[in-house]
Parts: sequence; structure tokens; C-alpha cells
Amino acid sequence: MRRIAVAMAKGGVGKTTTAVNLAHGLALRGHRVLLVDCDTQGQTAKFLGVAPSHGLYEFVTGRDAQGGALTKQQALHATRDNLWLLAGGIKLVELKNWLGEQPREVRQSILAQSLVPREGALDYLIYDCAPGWDVLSVNILMAVEEVLCPVSVQGAALEGLKTFFGYLMSAQRQNPSLELKYVLPTMFDRRTRQSFEIYRRLHRLFRKQICAPIHYNVRLAEAPAAGQTIFEYHRQAVGAEDYTHLIQRVLDDDGKEKFKQGT
Ligand SMILES: Nc1ncnc2c1ncn2[C@@H]1O[C@H](COP(=O)(O)OP(=O)(O)O)[C@@H](O)[C@H]1O
Ligand SMILES: [Mg+2]
Repeated sequence: MRRIAVAMAKGGVGKTTTAVNLAHGLALRGHRVLLVDCDTQGQTAKFLGVAPSHGLYEFVTGRDAQGGALTKQQALHATRDNLWLLAGGIKLVELKNWLGEQPREVRQSILAQSLVPREGALDYLIYDCAPGWDVLSVNILMAVEEVLCPVSVQGAALEGLKTFFGYLMSAQRQNPSLELKYVLPTMFDRRTRQSFEIYRRLHRLFRKQICAPIHYNVRLAEAPAAGQTIFEYHRQAVGAEDYTHLIQRVLDDDGKEKFKQGT
């Protein structure tokens, strides 16, 4: 099983769009995927057109908002064939408080300890991270091996990138198997010189990690309002083609990752 965090300190760069479409694209190819929404905004469920009553909070704490006991299975929401969701949302504020109250020596690894699927149950565990940096972000980076980093090539794209990589490096000291695996340029617009310039700079900085860009695509922006992934909303859209390339890139690494894990 591969564990991938879609993470970037900045908001609005396409993390949720990427996590949702990557997860569904893999699920459509027959892989079993669990998508975990780690954002208090709870957008992942909306993007998938579902409204689960339970999610990550209940999964980790083992209780619901009223304090009643709940099994891990009850916290999971089946959204599509092969695709399950652990929803985020405002209850994650509580989860962060709860994490903060746990003993210091275990606080950062609670997610890694509690989210351990049965052998063979899942092929991919994908975390849709929140912007910023807190006890939950640290927990995610302790629970994954791979980081996929979407970088918008619009506006002040590289701003905050250095700080974010500083965080990643400090997380790597505690989790040596953590690797910045993919840098994904997003919102690429052929009409702007800026898109090409920033892409070139990213390419120079991350020769190994850089992926083919995701273009700015209106269909990608529209799909969440319909509660659909791009593969459901408009399969012929440029956005669907771009995410298909990303999925292929991730799949191409399957053999290598399994070899590393000794499976
Ligand atoms: N490639 C794209 N082209 C056009 N709109 C996009 C693209 N990627 C994301 N969006 C839109 O931009 C907004 C922010 O994207 P989102 O995935 O929610 O970012 P984040 O999770 O990093 O905050 C959303 O409204 C989304 O629909
Ligand atoms: Mg998001």
C-alpha cells in the first residue's frame, strides 16, 4: 500500500482537486483507495457530492460528537466503487485539541498508529492536507512515505515554498522514509508568460519530482459544484487528460514503491 500526502502550506493551489481526482482516477482503474480529508473546511466530501455524518474525528477518537462509542468502520464512507472517504470538516478542530492533549511522546504519531488498514485491504491511502502547519499536519507527515506538492503557477507561486520545504525537512528527521515525491504545477495557463517562467523554475529546482502541469481548466472549477470528479463531469476535458497523466506517473512508480516496502 502506498501512502501519499497531497500537501502545500498555501491554500487555493489545487490540493483538494488533485487529491479527489487522483483518488478517483486510481479507483476507476481498480485500485482500492481511501481518501482522508484533513481540512476543517471539509471540502473533499463536497467535491465528491456526499455528506457523511462521521469522519476522521470519529475514526481517530473512537467516539462521536456526543461522546458515544463508534467503530472505525462506521466512520468510513463508501463514495464510489473502490473509493472510501474519511471526511474532514469543522470537527477536526476538536481532533486537533484532542491530539494536543495526548502525551508528548505519542502525540505526533497517533494518526500513523490508528490508520493501519488490514493487510491487502487498500492499495492507496491519500491525505488531502489543510494549508498551514499544525499538530494534524505533523501527524500526516509521520503517517506517509510520499508527498505530492501542488504548486500554482499563477500569482506569487513560489512564495511560502521555502518555508514549506523547511517543514518537510524537519518532518523527515522524525520520519526518514518521508520523501518529496511529486511537484505538480497547477493552474497552468498557456496565455501567460508567467506560467512558463514559473514552470521552468520549478523544473530546474525539482528535476526529479516535477510532473506534467495541470492546466487552468474551467471544467475542473465547475465539477465540485456538481459533486463530481472530472472523470464523471467531463471526461474529455483538458483537466481530465492532465489528471490522467498524473495518475499514470503515480502508477509507473508502483513497482518501485512496493520494492522499497519489501512487498
Ligand atoms: N486546474 C484548475 N483549473 C481551474 N480551477 C481549478 C483548478 N484546480 C483547482 N481549481 C479550483 O480552484 C479552487 C481551489 O482549488 P482547491 O483544490 O480547493 O485548492 P486547495 O485545496 O489547495 O485549497 C477551487 O474552486 C477549484 O475548483
Ligand atoms: Mg483543500
